[in-house]
Order: sequence, then structure tokens, then C-alpha cells
Amino acid sequence: MNEKITISDSLRSLLSKKTKVVVLTGAGISAESGVPTFRGKDGLWKKFRPEELATFDAFMANPKLVWEWYEYRRKIIEEIEPNQGHLALVDFQNYFDKFNLITQNVDGLHHKAGSKNVVELHGNIRRNKCIRCGKIYESLEGTIEGTPPRCPCGGNIRPDVVWFGEMLPQDAINHAFAVSSECNLFFSIGTSAVVHPAASLPLIAKRAGAYVVEVNISPTEITHLVDESLFGKAGEILPSLVKFFK
Ligand code: OAD
Repeated sequence: MNEKITISDSLRSLLSKKTKVVVLTGAGISAESGVPTFRGKDGLWKKFRPEELATFDAFMANPKLVWEWYEYRRKIIEEIEPNQGHLALVDFQNYFDKFNLITQNVDGLHHKAGSKNVVELHGNIRRNKCIRCGKIYESLEGTIEGTPPRCPCGGNIRPDVVWFGEMLPQDAINHAFAVSSECNLFFSIGTSAVVHPAASLPLIAKRAGAYVVEVNISPTEITHLVDESLFGKAGEILPSLVKFFK
């Protein structure tokens, strides 16, 4: 008996090893670790203007400012740990035979928690790349100087994240579309579900016949479209769901 949450019989019957599961996460899953979300009362986009910090034009206009903003966010992320929500998703991965974890987050906390093969739709804030030659820098230590650092080819190095107006990594979004349209059970966790194409994934899953569940502290744009909403903190709801695994 799980006293923390009540779930439908439909969801309960789908929590079996053979179910093909896809999980999409957003900033809300990292909120309990101390990573700021983007929207909502204390969201980053309430304090900062995305067009000044998260576009390629902004970087070209003021590379130092944009680089420093990402350094500030990297610092936050480096000092924190995955929470019970991230850890529960590792249990999901270990339990379901077919499981795919797709995230819009750039914080790398799923990986740090122990999740494998995480599909990062919006890149990773720790990784960087040269805007001129495209060289990827997993680590910048000891190699480069400047703000932002410069590649030996002369190009500025930028964070390897997706900015507004940019394409998502093709392999990642193709994989996300494919697994979403083939799953039986789809979870949309801690995302406002307003930024496309990621926000289309629950709808694609639903249209293809999957049972779609959202986990969020409050209703979202897709609440009226999903099969079931579990309202509460991801760090509490997800460990409670694990207790229903047979
Ligand atoms: P948002 O900030 O838009 O939404 C976060 C969601 O998490 C909201 O719906 C909150 O209600 C919910 N939430 C907050 N705390 C929670 C908790 N403890 N448990 C469960 N839910 C919680 O973040 P995203 O949907 O991830 O893109 O935003 C999508 C994209 O917009 C981001 O990847 C970023 C941003 O601009 C880029 O930078 C390209």
C-alpha cells in the first residue's frame, strides 16, 4: 500500500516491466536540487531577458556578458546534487525493459544520478564548442584563455546548448520523436510544455495511443490533454510511483 499518492488503475496496470516507457523532463525536476526554473514566479526569464542571453545574436553582440551568465549557471550546477526525483528515474530505467529518458535540461543531473543514454535535447551546459570550426570542448581546463575563451582557430568558444532560434541536435530530436511515437506510457515531468519541439512529444505519444501522465506542482498547457495528472513535487511523486512497481 502506497499512502503518498493515488494513481488510476490504468496507470497501475501499466507499471509492469514489459511496458515501453518514455520520460520527458524539464527544469522542474531539478528545482528541488536548487536549479532555478525558467518560468513561474522566481523563474530565470522573470529576471533576465532571453534575447539578451540565450541567442546567437546576443553572444555575437556581447560575448563576455553571455559567457559570464553561463559561468554563473555552471557554478550553481557544479555545487548541487541530483534529488530523489532524478534517483527515482534511475529505478525506472532499471525496472522497465524498454525505457528512454529525454530531457530539456542542460544541467547533467540525470547523468550524475546514474541514468544512462540520456537524450539531451537542449545540449549540456558543461560542454562547449567553437563557433568557427565546431570543435567540441568537454573540458576547458588549462587549455584556453579569455572571456569567452578562444579556440586555437581564432573562433570564440560558446556553451554547447541550444539557444532560441537554433535547431535542436538532429539525432536527439529524431530519436525522441521515434521513441515517443512507439511507447505505451509517457511521462511529462516538471516541464511547462510550452517550448517546441520538446513540448510536442507528449502530444505525439498521445496521438500514437500511449497513456500520458504528467507530474507537476501545478497545471500546465497540456493538463487538459493528458490522461492523468499527478500534482506534487517530482522528488516526492516519482519515488512514490516506484513503490507501485510489481
Ligand atoms: P519551465 O521553467 O518553463 O517549467 C518548469 C515546470 O516545472 C513548471 O511547469 C513548474 O510548475 C514545474 N515545477 C517546478 N518545480 C517542480 C517540482 N519540484 N516538481 C515538479 N514540477 C515542478 O521549464 P521547462 O519546461 O524545462 O530552453 O522549459 C523548457 C525550456 O525553456 C528550457 O529547456 C529552456 C527554456 O527556455 C532553452 O534554453 C532552449
